[in-house]
Amino acid sequence: MVKAVVCGAAGGIGQPLSLLLKLNPIVTELALYDVVNAVGVAADLSHIASPAQVTGYLASQPDADKAFQGADIVVIPAGVPRKPGMTRDDLFVNAGICNTLANSIAKNAPNAFVLVISNPVNSTVPVFAEAFKKAGTYDPKKLFGVSHLDVVRASTFAATAIGKPGDADKYSIPVVGGHSGATILPLLSQAKPAIPEILNDKEKRDALVNRIQFGGDEVVKAKDGAGSATLSMAQAGVEFTNHVLDAVFGGKKGKIVQSYIDLGAEAGGEGIKKEIGSDLAFFSVNIELGPAGIEKILPIGQIDDAEKALLEAAVKELGPSIEKGVSFQPAPP
Ligand code: NAI
Repeated sequence: MVKAVVCGAAGGIGQPLSLLLKLNPIVTELALYDVVNAVGVAADLSHIASPAQVTGYLASQPDADKAFQGADIVVIPAGVPRKPGMTRDDLFVNAGICNTLANSIAKNAPNAFVLVISNPVNSTVPVFAEAFKKAGTYDPKKLFGVSHLDVVRASTFAATAIGKPGDADKYSIPVVGGHSGATILPLLSQAKPAIPEILNDKEKRDALVNRIQFGGDEVVKAKDGAGSATLSMAQAGVEFTNHVLDAVFGGKKGKIVQSYIDLGAEAGGEGIKKEIGSDLAFFSVNIELGPAGIEKILPIGQIDDAEKALLEAAVKELGPSIEKGVSFQPAPP
């Protein structure tokens, strides 16, 4: 019996993400939560013949807390998306929404696994961590910043750059760092299978790194004011969520993914701080999933000189974004 909650379920990401979660037979209860239209989306999805029983809750309902009660996992694509010309940092208005949701989770589902999609992820994950610390419910092994779309884009764009776009799902490229522009650090030197035709051509390599770092802008531009990536994010979000569900509730062992997480001593990230030469509190790293969530934080491993330069830039930009999230002060109720 697994209860999943989607916050922001009526949105561009929330709707397809809820649909895809409804199709996962591990999920037996699916609660959709939003400030608008969650009840309608729930009614619609409830007609699909799969195990999950779907309910919808508006934040304004007096019994809205029920959405969270007994939740095992909460996935959060709530908030405002980007418009052309905006960076993810311009979305810090979402910090208030994240803080409110964190308080509802702490009160009603203190043991839930929490997956944060809301941007700017580099700052909103620290907002969640701080709110949980204040509430006394924080477990860093259960808090994930979802940077998986960067990993999906890396596979797709690498296959395209090599001239084999149909083989996108055959390329695996770890992406570490953060989830915004220069903080996104694709480790092309660790690609599987190896991509020497890109690594040995500086122009192609720089272009591929740039496309992975700024791929989100392509969608923002093409949608021309109607938002940012929603369908690819929903797919990436559910792929990541399903990995967590499989590890925690499905007994699957040894799955390694990348996620933007707390490197605090409690979570075992001290080794990463040595590797990146910085004591950043949050970073996207390789993690092994298990019943506790983040079972192990794994080393970044060997990187080449080009990646060392990118790492330096990523670390520099991440520091202030993390600080902004950590020091966020919610408006008084
Ligand atoms: P959207 O505007 O279509 O949907 C957001 C939903 O959140 C809306 O239905 C809205 O009513 C709801 N919402 C607002 N305040 C809420 C609250 N207090 N409680 C519950 N629900 C609330 O936006 P979209 O395109 O779905 O994007 C959502 C977020 O995901 C944005 O912050 C966006 O930047 C981010 N995003 C993250 C990505 C990642 O890789 N992590 C990729 C793409 C987008």
